[in-house]
Formats: sequence, structure tokens, C-alpha cells
Amino acid sequence: MLKSHTCGELRSQDAEETVSIAGWVHRRRDHGNLIFIDLRDRWGIVQVVINPEITPDAHKTAEAIRNEWVIQIEGKVVLRQPGTENPRIETGEIEIQAASVSILNPSNTPPFYINDEKSEEVDELLRLQYRYLDMRRPSMTQNLELRHKVIKFMRDYLDAEGFLEVETPILLKSTPEGARDYIVPSRLSPGSVYALPQSPQQLKQLLMVGGIEKYFQIARCFRDEDARSDRQPEFTQLDLEMSFVTENDVLDLTEKLFTNLIKKVTPDKKIIEPFPRLTFKEAMLRFGSDKPDLRFGMEIQELSSIAKQSNVGILKSAVEDGGVVRGINAVGCADYSRRQIDELVELARSQGAQGLVAINLIGDDDKVSLSGIRSSIARALTEEDLEAIAGHFDAKNGDLILIVAGAESVVAPALGVIRQEMGLKMKLAPEDLLALGFITEMPLFDWNEEENRWDSVHHPFTAPIESDISKVSTNPGEIMSRSYDMVCNGYEIASGSIRIHQKELQLEIFQALGYTKDEIENQFGHLLNAFEFGAPPHGGIAPGVDRFVMLLANEETIREVIPFPKTQAGVDPLTGAPTPAEPNQLTELGLEIANNPPK
Ligand code: AMO
Repeated sequence: MLKSHTCGELRSQDAEETVSIAGWVHRRRDHGNLIFIDLRDRWGIVQVVINPEITPDAHKTAEAIRNEWVIQIEGKVVLRQPGTENPRIETGEIEIQAASVSILNPSNTPPFYINDEKSEEVDELLRLQYRYLDMRRPSMTQNLELRHKVIKFMRDYLDAEGFLEVETPILLKSTPEGARDYIVPSRLSPGSVYALPQSPQQLKQLLMVGGIEKYFQIARCFRDEDARSDRQPEFTQLDLEMSFVTENDVLDLTEKLFTNLIKKVTPDKKIIEPFPRLTFKEAMLRFGSDKPDLRFGMEIQELSSIAKQSNVGILKSAVEDGGVVRGINAVGCADYSRRQIDELVELARSQGAQGLVAINLIGDDDKVSLSGIRSSIARALTEEDLEAIAGHFDAKNGDLILIVAGAESVVAPALGVIRQEMGLKMKLAPEDLLALGFITEMPLFDWNEEENRWDSVHHPFTAPIESDISKVSTNPGEIMSRSYDMVCNGYEIASGSIRIHQKELQLEIFQALGYTKDEIENQFGHLLNAFEFGAPPHGGIAPGVDRFVMLLANEETIREVIPFPKTQAGVDPLTGAPTPAEPNQLTELGLEIANNPPK
């Protein structure tokens, strides 16, 4: 080894020890006679001092050195002069008096500062293009370390619980998860393609048929869809599956795993124990979202019966037409301006709502009254209506009531986004809280207007709840499924379900989804066959590692916790991938590029 110690580990107890260290020049200061170098490696920074009187050769070498050069220092650890200690670095009580300085490799001037943590100011494209420099910055190194700790914890925990880590192929057949496949042309079977797995879903089910009983994998998944802040075309799941389980077994295991993980890896974070478990219906009713932010309350309230008896036409008629009226109370927000309210109205409209009714309770008495409100329905409201509405929320003067009326399918998500927006604006979410929870019993299908057919809400292998199985042929839209998601702070972190393990039911579901007999045979024949050889009841879940680590690291995008992510356009700015296929590659594969390839 070229180093006896790391740059982060030397302390006052090491004084007088002779050491050899190596790393990158974080900063160099030339004080006329003395040269100071802050030397950095993955573990920290240590100050080196080079004295021309004692080591003239080393001093001469050090004069040429610049930031990010790779050097090796041999020298003695000494205590710093009293008053010159640096409490901002862990090695701040000591410095190294260099006996020799060796240049291992010089460096060009980096395109952005590495010794300055203000990475937000650096263009992300540039950071990604020079990711190997970007990851020298401590915050990036810490994110990668955090990711390592999370994955290690998952592995150790599941190993102790009797799970077997099994690798599944990347070159595979299509495994639908609702996205487009990445395909890889086969040289040996011209015209045929492999599909990269969108997830190891079918394989983990086959592992259950194979008697593995408890499987997990840190699995890479590939989906050809547009990248977003929480989405990459290539990402990682903790994929797991268990046999002979019901929903609660999978949820209990997942809850224990994540509770223990957070306590060990990020002990400063708080969680809600036990994790709340809500059905999808309850989540939509109370939070207007299937991935509610459980860090704060401000729950949605049902106002339909009050609206029905009120004098306000738009509220009353919504209920009479079979819709609902619901709202939230933003405590202390009565001073919201018309412009701010208009922005909220736009937000509600983005979810399909016709509008949003705001009642600003601007009075200064103890009691709420019509003379102290600002609202677009002020003229229609009676004192009784106002009392009933405000009373329902226990709202006081100073509060802002926000109401949406219309079809339930629109009112719930509209209030969901309004609640989330207001919660963040009002800073209701404690910064150190990871509010994990489970949402269960999602619908099995949802109607695809464009293609005029049913789609799986989760994936086609999800079991319907027992009592709804008879509706597959009669009323597919009403079937609830044995599915569950884990959510955290408004993000979907994991998804899973109890699976279908009987061939007949699986066939029925494929048919309900509009697959032809041939398509079923071609795409899923292997799974249906396997179900004829003693497939055990089974279920599982797949937490997204990138999204979870992003939340642990307080980052806004998963790109910050992925070593080499892709841009929104699916490009890797470091290597330039994807690049045009070489003519000989195409020839070998028997492929031709169309004259006008689709954009
Ligand atoms: P699903 O498709 O819901 O389920 O994915 C599970 C979890 O994976 C993460 N995730 C993503 N993370 C980053 N970028 C993406 N493009 C991306 N897509 C998904 C999310 C999500 O909750 N086979 C099923 C699981 C199962 O049924 O066991 C599946 O893949 O955190």
C-alpha cells in the first residue's frame, strides 16, 4: 500500500508517528516559506505542512503542485500550534510535517470546484459529464456510502431471516410492468430479441414454484420511459418474494426491515411506529392520493351532506348530480391573496376539477360570521351554511377553507394535490420525519380510454381479493386486489401483492386484459405451465432502492444517489451512450436502420 493511514483517521494520539498518506490535493496555500496542503481521500482531509528549511526538495516539489493532483506524503504527525487547530475537520488537532512529497499523477484544472460544496450552482450536465470528479465531493461520496450501507443492511437482514439471494437473467423475455421494454437483438437468432427485465417479477414467481420459499435480490430493472426526478430508465429494486404468506406477513417483514434499517443507518431520522396501514379507498378519502404524505394531517373532510342542505347552488347541485363536496382547512392561511388562491384553483383544475371554492375567514371576532369572510360564494352563503362548514372543520377566524365539488374521481385527487401543496407551503412536514405507511387493496384494473380496454393497476400477476373473483367476467372495474404499496413522504417507495398461483384464474385475468390466446401462450406460457406443477401460494414486494436512499439523503432527485445516472433524454453524458450502431454490428445482427427512424 502507498498509504499507512487514511486522510481522515489521524488524531492527536497519533502525534510523533511516522506515516505515509496519499490522496488528492484539496487545497494548497503558499505562505512564502511554508506550503500547506490539505490532502483529501474518501475518509477525510488532513493538513500537510512543508518547510523549506527542513525539506528543501519536498518544498520544491510542492511548489509545482495544484488542486486535484494525486500525491503521496511521508512524514511525521505533529500537534498543531495552540490556536491554529481547525475544529471544522476531524483531523484538525494535528498536521503532518512532510519529509517527502511524491507526485503520483498531475491533474488538469477541473471544470468546476471540487473543494466547494456549492454543487447546485454547477450545471448538472457538466457534473454528470465529469461524474468521476463530482463524486470526489464529500456530499456525493456520502450519498454513495449511504447507499452502500442501506444495501448491506438489507442483505444482512434478509439473510438472517432465511432469505436466499438469487440472481436472475438480464437477457430475458418481456416482463410487463406497464412500461416499454428495452430490447437486445440476438445474433444467434436473427430477427429475435431479448427484452431487459422491467423487474424480475415472473422469475421470482418461478423461484417460488422452484421451492425457494424466501427469495431476494438487489435487482437492476430497465424501463424505456422518460426519466423524472424520481424515475430513471435503469434503477434498482430490493426485490423479494415469499411462499405461504398473506398480505400481513409481507407487510410485517417489510415494516421490520425498514424500521431497523432507518434506526441503524440514519438514527437522526424519525419514523411513525407502527407504520399506518390504509386501504386505497381510505387513502383517497382522507388524503386524496394513493401515495399520501403522512408527515402531516390537514385531512380532507366530507362536506356533502352540509352542501346538500346549503343555499350554495354549485355545492348543492354537485351532490344532487351524484357527486361529492369535500374540503380542507388550511389553519392560519386566511391572508392568502386572490392571486395565491388563483394558483390553487389552477392546481385543482390540473386534476380535472372545475374549480376550487375558497373561504378566507378574515374576521377578527371569536366567532366566524358572513361579515368576516372573503369568498367567491360569499353572496350565496347563509350564516347557517357558514357555521355548518366552519364548524365541521372546527375552523376559526384566521383560517382558509378550500372546497372542491364534483365527481368523486376528480374531487379526491384535486384536494390531494391542494393538501400537498398547502402542507409544504405551510411547512407542516417535519424535516427529519420519514413517514412510512402502507396503502392496501388497490383496484385490480383500470379502464384505458385510449385503447378501450382494461389495464392492470399493478401488474397482471396480482391476485384479486377472494370475494371479488366472481366479478372478473361481469364487473372488472369493481374488483379490488390483494396489492399494497409502501409510501414515504408523498412518494411510492415500494409495490407488491399476493399473486395468482392457479393457472385458471391467471388465464381469466389475461383474457380480461384483452390478450388473445396466442399472445397468452407466447408471452406467458412458461408461467402458466409452471402453475401446473404445484405452485405454492406466494406474494412479495419490491422497494425502490434509489427512491428510498434519495429520501434518506434528503435529496430532491434520485440522480444524486445513483453513481452514473442518465439525463431526462436517457443519455449518459459521461460516455455519450447511446451511440449509433456500427455498420458491422448491424450486419452481424441482420439489422438495417430505417431511412427516417421515428423520433
Ligand atoms: P413497481 O413497478 O411498482 O413494481 O416498482 C416497485 C418500485 O420500484 C421503484 N421504481 C422506480 N424507481 C426509479 N425509477 C423508475 N423508473 C422506477 N420504477 C419503479 C419504485 C416502485 O415503488 N414487480 C413489481 C413489484 C412486485 O409486485 O413485487 C414492480 O416492479 O420505488
